[in-house]
Amino acid sequence: MRKLIDKLYKDGDLRESELLDLITNITPDDREYLFECARNKAREHYGRNVYLRGLIEISSYCKNDCYYCGLRASNKCAKRYRLDKSQILECCKTGYELGLRTFVLQGGEDMHYTDEILLDIISTIRKSYPDCAITLSLGEKDAESYQKYFDAGANRYLLRHEAYSSDLYSKLHPKNLNIETRLDCLKNLKQIGFQTGCGFMVGAPYQTYEHIVKDLRFIKDFQPEMVGIGPFLPHSDTPFGEEQAGSVSLTLTLLAVVRLLVPTVLLPATTALSTASEDGLVLGVRAGANVVMPNLSPLDVRKKYMLYDGKKSSGTESAQAIDTLKEKLETIGYEVNFSRGDNIKFAN
Ligand code: 5AD
Repeated sequence: MRKLIDKLYKDGDLRESELLDLITNITPDDREYLFECARNKAREHYGRNVYLRGLIEISSYCKNDCYYCGLRASNKCAKRYRLDKSQILECCKTGYELGLRTFVLQGGEDMHYTDEILLDIISTIRKSYPDCAITLSLGEKDAESYQKYFDAGANRYLLRHEAYSSDLYSKLHPKNLNIETRLDCLKNLKQIGFQTGCGFMVGAPYQTYEHIVKDLRFIKDFQPEMVGIGPFLPHSDTPFGEEQAGSVSLTLTLLAVVRLLVPTVLLPATTALSTASEDGLVLGVRAGANVVMPNLSPLDVRKKYMLYDGKKSSGTESAQAIDTLKEKLETIGYEVNFSRGDNIKFAN
């Protein structure tokens, strides 16, 4: 097993059969060794820095009906809200004053936000905060729209691929959504020049180790600038409400493997990881993660952006508690970094 890990560290790659062996048979001792390798790899490129992104959840409306997500259109119990331009700018102001230099606008696929409305918001943030990065996470759009957002000043786009296997993808999503469209979107984003993020949930219903290996191969081939990986967590008002949560230790293993497959990736310790485990943040960074995305949404809407039961939005997940975050990370020898934190392939 160590030989396999050493090979992954040295070559930044493994065959499918080797990846399968690694994630299926890794022992706790080997996992510690894998984490150490992942931390060393992160250090080579980003030192002991952990980059911050202020997360603004702009809308809990969604036209899609993904079986796992609490924001799905069919969830009649979901509390819905959307932020207008002035509320979003207010979040940026709060974030800027706290020292954040990346704003992530994330939301369900809410048709209220036409391109005209979005372009107005993006270009105003761009003008008001020329030194900040703007990340969008607003789902599938056509290439023309993505291009317009980029031209208006957006720099990065997060769009998890969710499942590279079309079999699994179709078990997690209704028929109108498919992996081909998702992959087209990701290719378009990259081609336009966005720092692009993909990713998936660990332990989603029906997901096997073989599926995960396909996700890892895709990530290696696509060479994303960012990757979001967190455990699946059930939401009681969805078709998967009674399903088991994904495993924290497998999530950590996969964070480390992704760090070694794509050494320069910006890799968050996700909110789902922190929700699943009290120490999720520290465990994630110890497994090679180097990004945290504290929540900047207005306090009165945070409980309404419920992707899964119990989603954390306070403590180290809150932008208002960056000091706590900083202390926690310093205890394990890491430094909170307040710069834009671009992928080094894009840094000038
Ligand atoms: N558990 C964990 N992650 C979830 N997401 C959506 N629903 C859940 C859930 N129940 C993730 C998806 C999506 C991102 C915004 O949140 O991967 O891309």
